[in-house]
Amino acid sequence: MRPLIEMTNQTTILDPKLEQTVSQLRCIECGAVHKSASRTLRCPSCGDLLEIIYPAWKTSGGRAAGLNASELKALWRQRRSSRAAVDQSGVWRFREVLPALASGHEAITLREGNTPLYEMPRSARIAGVPHLYAKHQGMNPTGSFKDTGMTVSASFARQEGFRWVACASTGNTSASMAAYAARGGMRSLVLIPDGKVSWGKLSQALDYGAVTCQLKTDFDGCMRVLNEVVERMPVYLLNSINPYRLEGQKTAAIELLEQCDWQSPDHVIVPGGNLGNSSALGKAFLEMRELGLISRMPKLSVIQAEGANPLVRTVRETSGKRLIPVQAETMATAIRIGHPASWKKAVRVLEATGGTVEQVSEIEIAQAKAEIGADGVGCEPASAVTLAGLKKLVKQGFVKPSETVVLVLTGHLLKDPEFTLKFHRGDLFSGTPLESQAAILAAHERAPIVLDASADAVVKTLEQAETLADEP
Ligand code: F0G
Repeated sequence: MRPLIEMTNQTTILDPKLEQTVSQLRCIECGAVHKSASRTLRCPSCGDLLEIIYPAWKTSGGRAAGLNASELKALWRQRRSSRAAVDQSGVWRFREVLPALASGHEAITLREGNTPLYEMPRSARIAGVPHLYAKHQGMNPTGSFKDTGMTVSASFARQEGFRWVACASTGNTSASMAAYAARGGMRSLVLIPDGKVSWGKLSQALDYGAVTCQLKTDFDGCMRVLNEVVERMPVYLLNSINPYRLEGQKTAAIELLEQCDWQSPDHVIVPGGNLGNSSALGKAFLEMRELGLISRMPKLSVIQAEGANPLVRTVRETSGKRLIPVQAETMATAIRIGHPASWKKAVRVLEATGGTVEQVSEIEIAQAKAEIGADGVGCEPASAVTLAGLKKLVKQGFVKPSETVVLVLTGHLLKDPEFTLKFHRGDLFSGTPLESQAAILAAHERAPIVLDASADAVVKTLEQAETLADEP
């Protein structure tokens, strides 16, 4: 392995006219500003997480830095018709609000971002909010929101001269990292919990050429091992504590605002795992307001599975002051995380935007996933916590029926086909304590029907299906 080249924040300016893109690394706890990060990407002074800031924006909402809200909106729209790779990327087309790569260094891009915002009519009726949309981040190149962050952080890893990148993952980060490492000519090391990663995600990491280690522990255990590995070996950490990743993930919120014609929705609802994504989206809303692109922020709320609910407990039991880690267990394996790294960042976003937290049961997740599927959209189990949580927030009156709501769907339906097949065959909860409660899911189940190869048999099935109510 090549020796480690020390990471710096010398994000040299891409275009000399765009001096506003100079960024710094600042500790979220002690506020110290650093030129470089330690290998664990933590504050060298106090050990907490770092975030990227743009000091030039401080004065007059970015105008002093030459950022003008209406010019930015026009420039970002105009790039959509460009043939340049960085303009076609739904991340780098927002590069005025991202850390800039040094001249001579190209972004590693798979044309990530540019994901659709779908109307969700059936789910809207079910939740009782007519204006319901889904921002489908599962429509990214590797099928999850991770790509928007990976294009930025992998590009910086390559700029810094790293040959190896690494992550601990519940599956999606590893798939994304492996793809971007391969595109960027780097090697990748993946640590995943043995037996708790869906086959779809695991197969992606293998195909993109990652060295994939299944450790006999959970995600939190993989994270602990990886932190030791990066101290000992010259590998670049690409988990979401990497602040460059969150800068990329931020662009999903910017793109969402653009799709809403810069009129903020009232609520944005995201699943919570390691809590990087909620932190990134919230950072974007705050920055877009600071730069005058929006006048009002959406309330950003985070939903967790009941069995993996450290943020919910932290907010409810300590008012967000102290993390309450949990031993995580949920079939939504992507968010099976008990000790989230970015909890402080997420708490700050909840407070700054006026959002809330909620938790949902395994049965509620399975039902909501089928409902999102019935809208012709589909998603992986972790993403479905958003609709399940929304139903609760409407009942509680936190979300009003007149308000506009956007669910962030984080992963593609095909990420976890085993969950979907078991659900429709009616055996997702077989042999578990939830088996009897799961009876309420029967109306949503559409098991494959095995028939003789005859038109009569198919016509009979069609006629039977016709007599069944179409609506859930
Ligand atoms: N949804 C999906 C589909 C995910 O894969 C993840 C996280 C989340 C939601 C939660 O996002 O961690 O930013 O709060 N997956 C990580 C991984 C942990 O390793 O793929 P978060």
